[in-house]
Amino acid sequence: MDGLDALKTRYLAEIADASDEAAIEAVRLAALGKKGEVSLKMRELGKMSPEERQFAGPALNALKAELGDALSARKQVLGDAALEARLASEWLDVTLSPRPRAQGTIHPISQVTEEVIAIFADLGYSVAEGPQIETDYYNFDALNIASHHPARQEMDTFYMSLPKGANRPPHVLRTHTSPVQIRHMEKHGVPCRVIAPGRVYRADYDQTHTPMFHQYEGLAIDKDISMANLKWTLEEFCRAFFNIDNIELRFRASHFPFTEPSAEVDIRCSWDGGQLKIGEGDDWMEILGSGMVHPKVLSAAGVDPKEYQGFAFGMGIDRIAMLKYGIPDLRAFFDSDLRWLRHYGFAALDKPTIHGGIAR
Ligand code: DAH
Repeated sequence: MDGLDALKTRYLAEIADASDEAAIEAVRLAALGKKGEVSLKMRELGKMSPEERQFAGPALNALKAELGDALSARKQVLGDAALEARLASEWLDVTLSPRPRAQGTIHPISQVTEEVIAIFADLGYSVAEGPQIETDYYNFDALNIASHHPARQEMDTFYMSLPKGANRPPHVLRTHTSPVQIRHMEKHGVPCRVIAPGRVYRADYDQTHTPMFHQYEGLAIDKDISMANLKWTLEEFCRAFFNIDNIELRFRASHFPFTEPSAEVDIRCSWDGGQLKIGEGDDWMEILGSGMVHPKVLSAAGVDPKEYQGFAFGMGIDRIAMLKYGIPDLRAFFDSDLRWLRHYGFAALDKPTIHGGIAR
């Protein structure tokens, strides 16, 4: 039979040149497919004389087998190469050094809020929340601050603008976290033990005042709660928060519309050489307002004051953060200065807990 050698040479060359599986398949179809050249030649066998067939049959079969072997060998080589390439591209160097430490840090306000929550969680308090845009009722009236009360002016309230035709007092940016007392008791009833940390707003700006700052409210209501419980709770908090055993607190009689009696609380400290030290010295620093919740406040929240009573207090988070971490200017908290944050910020993994320690 003529031309088989030429066919073989051509197809072997094409197989060797095939650079991917699709090319191999194209060669296979051209040679051995149903209408492939070799297959067509096989069909011609029928028309041959027995003598011719005796010679051409084995030759064609041999060609078919040889091309088949060459095709699978090439396919194998290409498959291996593809796998190699994939392994090389997906290679992972597990000896590479770990990623650099995250650049971001936790803001001292967030850190101190977490510390406060951790300490009070240990005393059995849960966290309550309320809206920052508050109604006049919750921010003032329900807390026994009547509309003529000077506290409304003293608090330098930000008022929201009133929609046209609205027949109600304007909403306010809450001036304190105390409205959360009412909202919590209304919704969850008593007895209760909660703290409510969050943002509060007053139109004021100097070294110790910013228009937005942070407070947390404490509230404990039950059937036999007294001022003594308040004192113990606050001392316990200060010992844990400042990490100092000999904390001394001074209760000064004061006035808040929502408590009776009311007390402002100072902590003993010293200012030797401009350095503030908590727990020693002859100075006092005011850190919070507190008192026994006023019966009218309980009633406003749907609680019977003849059956229940308790204490409340409000503490400045920014202020205790400044005291604990020696931060002199409140305004820096809100400047978003990265250098400041790197200096006073906390590593992301330093989560405050009682057992892990809450102090840096
Ligand atoms: N709401 C007061 C303020 O922002 C702080 C305060 C005082 C809260 C006495 C209280 C309290 O719960 O009993 O100035």
